[in-house]
Amino acid sequence: MTAVDLPSQHHEQYQAFKQLGLKLDMSRGKPAPEQLDLSNGLMAALDGYKAADGTDGRNYGGTIGLPEARELFGKLLDVPAAQVVVDSSASLSLMHDVIIYSLLNGTPGNAPWVREPVTFLCPVPGYDRHFAICEARGIKMINIPMSEAGPDMDLVEKLVAEDASIKGMWCVPKYSNPGGVVFSDAVVARLAAMKTAAPDFRLMWDDAYRFHHLGEQKLEVANILDACAKAGNPDRAIVFASSSKVTWAGSGIAALAASPANIAWWTKHAGIRSIGPDKINQLRHVRLLKDVATVEALMEQHRLLLKPKFDAVLAQFEHYLADVPGVSWTRPQGGYFIDLVTPDGSAKRTVALAKEAGITLTPAGAAFPYGNDPKDSHIRIAPSFPSLDEITKAAQGIALSLKVALAG
Ligand SMILES: Cc1ncc(COP(=O)(O)O)c(C=O)c1O
Repeated sequence: MTAVDLPSQHHEQYQAFKQLGLKLDMSRGKPAPEQLDLSNGLMAALDGYKAADGTDGRNYGGTIGLPEARELFGKLLDVPAAQVVVDSSASLSLMHDVIIYSLLNGTPGNAPWVREPVTFLCPVPGYDRHFAICEARGIKMINIPMSEAGPDMDLVEKLVAEDASIKGMWCVPKYSNPGGVVFSDAVVARLAAMKTAAPDFRLMWDDAYRFHHLGEQKLEVANILDACAKAGNPDRAIVFASSSKVTWAGSGIAALAASPANIAWWTKHAGIRSIGPDKINQLRHVRLLKDVATVEALMEQHRLLLKPKFDAVLAQFEHYLADVPGVSWTRPQGGYFIDLVTPDGSAKRTVALAKEAGITLTPAGAAFPYGNDPKDSHIRIAPSFPSLDEITKAAQGIALSLKVALAG
């Protein structure tokens, strides 16, 4: 760990902070209650139980989702509705199922993955639950460093070309969790076109933060399904999204978009798993969210609630940490996280000190496969859930914890 010469004043400030007796859980990036309130219209949105095509939403059926829900997500994801499935209340379960079907049944025309060792590429820092799926299902993971434009493509291209056990790669293309990275057009094109030793290589394209801008500029990422089709690899990418952080987290609706072959494959296997999704929830979401403009207006309201919280964290970090060598942090243009980068070997200690001061953070290392950040230098900050006052104090407490950790 880097020892930095710090005045004892930081210890005193840290001790004084502890005396506040704060109890804050910032371990997950959850929407705050006032964000959930923005969608309370869901309670009254249902004006009937029949879908536009006459489907009775109260009954079984409709594995791929209601036509109007597929239409809505098609417009949101810029994909033909025919290439969209709406299913489940959260996208993580769809990602999990794609992996399970691939392991047990194989992708269209290919043998089940489970017959051979399976490896996934994992851009880091990344989303802990992606890595948890791989770990739980026996998929080996390889860390891929991230730059501001996306994963290290030289390394990715080299690995996928030479190792046929590499069957997939996790990608959060916009405002990634936790680094806030936005994939460049060049990265998207290379991912779509690269030569892979595995014929059934999949990009798990988790577009969780597609609509979740923090800046006034709404950044766009190139359409991966178009890029893959153009490059002659139409089945390579599977896109995931949900309304979790648009309406209600965990009670939203989720979508999967892919090539026609992949949609047929999904539908076949999903039809074994269930007799159809919750179409009543789909109906009330379609009634509330209506169209792209309505979703964008709702996301602007989220932005207005979230932006001051992110700004508060950044201001505290600037105040307390600007002159500390080896410390930096991201200034995300969207998404739900700030990545605080600490000198090597100091993240775990900082998280422990913050815990003693009443602030529960995501465990250091969680943003890496197997919970192992080789440099112990990343702390995921989730500003969304606490109030503005709480998050300001928490950011101060985290900064003081880091200073104390560095002082040894
Ligand atoms: C990158 C990413 N993907 C997916 C999710 C969860 O999405 P869902 O609620 O649709 O399962 C999250 C939640 O934090 C996330 O950060």
